[in-house]
This record gives sequence, C-alpha cells and structure tokens, in this order.
Amino acid sequence: MPIRAVVYVSEACTKIASPTAESRAVLDVLVEDAKRFNRSAGVTGVLMFDGERFLQYMEGPMDGLSVAYSRVLGASSHHGLVELQQGRVGQRRLPYWPMRWLSLEPHDLRQLALSDWTRFNQRGDAQALNGTAMDRLTQLVEPHTRVA
Ligand SMILES: Cc1cc2nc3c(=O)[nH]c(=O)nc-3n(C[C@H](O)[C@H](O)[C@H](O)COP(=O)(O)O)c2cc1C
Repeated sequence: MPIRAVVYVSEACTKIASPTAESRAVLDVLVEDAKRFNRSAGVTGVLMFDGERFLQYMEGPMDGLSVAYSRVLGASSHHGLVELQQGRVGQRRLPYWPMRWLSLEPHDLRQLALSDWTRFNQRGDAQALNGTAMDRLTQLVEPHTRVA
C-alpha cells in the first residue's frame, strides 16, 4: 500500500505554550486524542515541541492520512501552520508510534524546519553537510525508540 507523508510547523496556542504542568497536561490530552484517531487510520509519526512551536511528521495510507491531517488543519490549539512537504514515501520512516510528542530545543526545531525536506530523501548521515531533514529527524527520534 502506498504510504504518504506530510510535515509542517505551527505555533502552539497560549494554553499549551507556557511551561506549566497544566499546559503539558493539555498537550498530553491532545496527543492521546491524536493517537486514538491515528491508530484507527494507520497513521504513525512524531510531534516535536519546543515550548512554543510544533513540527509534526505523520505518515500513512492516503485516506487515513488525509483525514488525520484535516483534523490537524482544523485544530484551534495551534495557528500559523506552514506545510514543509507532502508526498509519497517508499516505506514508513517512523513506524514506532501512532503519535508521540517529544521535547526539542528551539534551535534544533528551527534547524530541522529549515533542512531539506525534498521528497523526504534520506541519505543516512545526519552529521554530513548534505544531511537531509529526514536524516536529522530520524536521528533525533532514534534514542526514544530503544526499549529501556
Ligand atoms: C499540534 C497538533 C497535532 C495534532 N496531531 C493530530 C494527529 O496526529 N492526528 C489526529 O487525528 N489529530 C491530530 N490533532 C488534532 C487533535 O487530536 C484534536 O482533535 C484537536 O486538537 C482538538 O481540537 P482543538 O485543538 O480545536 O481543541 C492535532 C492537533 C494539534 C494542535
């Protein structure tokens, strides 16, 4: 089954963009809701959060992904969404979670957003000068995929 992916950046609403336990709880509830839907739609991915901005990568079959993404586009918990890339990927790159949020330093999120997302290409070396966005994303996610 062909797998599609989409990646975007957006700004969190004020009830999430504050460093309080309450705002983290709001984000946890949002992601639980996203996970429930994504599981049924065959969507997987990751939501990077730097305290103010999101960068979300999601992938799955066309039907499931487009409904999940329309839920993202309709959500009032963020604004200023900018799509960085959308298209086919040969195989799933992030099959680990129906969704999970991970904390990221603002500098790293910015660098990731500005990296090369063309065709979701992966060269396999995030440190290389020509390392792609997918190289960086998979490197950032990898430590969290190991079972403790
Ligand atoms: C940053 C962000 C990421 C989201 N990711 C997903 C997702 O992966 N799948 C999904 O079905 N919905 C996703 N949603 C939608 C939420 O699960 C939830 O349905 C929505 O935020 C609730 O509406 P509200 O933000 O207007 O309160 C996302 C929403 C936001 C703001």
